[in-house]
Amino acid sequence: MKRSILIAATCFAVLSCSAQKERGLKDVFADDFYIGAALNEWEIRGLDTAGVEILKKHFNSIVAENCMKSEEIHPEEGVYDFELADKFVEFGEANDMFIIGHCLVWHSQLAKWFPYDDDGNYVTPEVLKERMKEHITTIVTRYKGRVHGWDVVNEAIVEDGSYRKSPFYEILGEEFIPFAFECAHAADPDAELYLNDYGMNVKGRRDTYVKIIKDLQSRGIRIDAIGMQGHVGMDYPDFTEFEESLKAYAGTGINVMITEWDMSALPTVNMGANVSDIEAYRASMNPYPDGLPEDVSAEWNERMKAFMDLFLKHSDVITRVTAWGVSDDDSWKNNWPMRGRMDYPLLFDRNLEMKPFLKEYYK
Ligand code: GLA
Repeated sequence: MKRSILIAATCFAVLSCSAQKERGLKDVFADDFYIGAALNEWEIRGLDTAGVEILKKHFNSIVAENCMKSEEIHPEEGVYDFELADKFVEFGEANDMFIIGHCLVWHSQLAKWFPYDDDGNYVTPEVLKERMKEHITTIVTRYKGRVHGWDVVNEAIVEDGSYRKSPFYEILGEEFIPFAFECAHAADPDAELYLNDYGMNVKGRRDTYVKIIKDLQSRGIRIDAIGMQGHVGMDYPDFTEFEESLKAYAGTGINVMITEWDMSALPTVNMGANVSDIEAYRASMNPYPDGLPEDVSAEWNERMKAFMDLFLKHSDVITRVTAWGVSDDDSWKNNWPMRGRMDYPLLFDRNLEMKPFLKEYYK
């Protein structure tokens, strides 16, 4: 080979190798979907500097893990705390990210006062509607044109397809969903609006969501996407069922988002277990306190890759894949359903090293 060609080839190899090193996940999947992460307080405040670096390099969408939930942002009637939510939105803007607000109406982490009167009874339908409207309008208006999409209603349907008996449902019946969407749309007509839930593979839940989406559409109420939370495990859900749901939601004409992706590497907890030896039970529930054994890690990576491949197969309708945290240390799974479990559910490990299955996509 001529010397000049050799030099050129070497330079090209070095350049493309370093370019590859610089590429984040968001670049690797740029033609497919946004790659998102949920931000915790330490990341939002810039205290977790290593986490922030990973976020900037690899993610082009963010969602608030906790700071926009009603108990945080609207702890008392008439009292809002926007401090952290403001910083969260500023972080997304400064880094040119697709910003998701989570979540406007949810039965859990709900501000204690929200559905009750002074005597501790449920408020009337009229009062709840007023409160919902005020809550949604205030928050969505504050971030108008800045937050690009909202999880308007979170976790409204249970597995058999019936409505969760939340205060919203108990007081307003099924209408609480269209009402919440109308309020959000009125406050920011350009914002995308989503329904979000877990266990979205389950047929009962799937059928009801398809019905709700069609109902909203037939009434001319904006809905842009359904969020399949994606809290998955080593033995659930079944891929075929998950894909069936994905297709059913997409079949209504709206987009699908994988909104809270993480996969526990630990055995599924049998909450009803009858245990006499509590220490033995605890140990069995926390089997890998010192690191994930290689065979389990390999299995975890293989299954995560299969999920990612499924998302890629449907990238025509999946517009965002968001992990529920950045690195394993961040994950709520370490404390649920039992405190102190050492879990390994996210895209980066505790040393902030990217998980092997993702490296496959760089090849
Ligand atoms: C649900 C919620 C999230 C989060 C997780 C667990 O999926 O949508 O906001 O609270 O539970 O932390």
